[in-house]
Amino acid sequence: MSNGIKLFIAGLLAFFILKACTNHDIHDPDYIDATDEDLFLEVKDAMPFYYQGGITIAPAAQSPHGEFKLRFNSIADGSLDKGELPSNGRFSDGSLIVKEVYLNSVLYIFAVMKKAPTDVNAKAGWLWAEYQLDGTPVVSIEVKGAGCINCHSETPNRDLVRTFDLH
Ligand code: HEC
Repeated sequence: MSNGIKLFIAGLLAFFILKACTNHDIHDPDYIDATDEDLFLEVKDAMPFYYQGGITIAPAAQSPHGEFKLRFNSIADGSLDKGELPSNGRFSDGSLIVKEVYLNSVLYIFAVMKKAPTDVNAKAGWLWAEYQLDGTPVVSIEVKGAGCINCHSETPNRDLVRTFDLH
């Protein structure tokens, strides 16, 4: 083998090893093994798509949260039809739904669902988390939606998302 070819192969190897060591692109719907920090970075991203134009919505009787606004990333927004997920519709992989929860009109918590079925922490196709405003997880993705999914399973025809049937 000529030195040129050896160098080329070594270069290729180095490229793939480096690539494997760098962080996943958190916007890539196929990325796996997100951390709570990764997901929070996405939550903080600008997301201009608000449910019903960003009005504050009073919680349904069976909701564990207070009044809220709902926002979507562009992938989730692209799964909607006239602002809602059609019955029996599915959110595309990479969809992010952020529920901004208010207490006495002051934002105090983010409840989050991220469609990432290939992630080790995904349960029922979603990552589930809650964060304080500074990103401290109240509910880590690592508990895999324990305490969330039972209640959210009441409307499985909306891909476990409850708002559209209630508000
Ligand atoms: C007792 C039932 C219940 C539990 C438990 C629950 N939720 Fe919800 N969740 C709701 C309801 C009902 C809504 C619809 C909006 C509303 O009225 O608050 C909702 C809305 C949401 C939304 C907005 C998308 C949607 O489904 O409408 C997110 C995100 C969310 N919840 C995350 C979570 C996470 C994360 C957990 C667990 C840590 C959790 N929820 C636990 C009932 C529940």
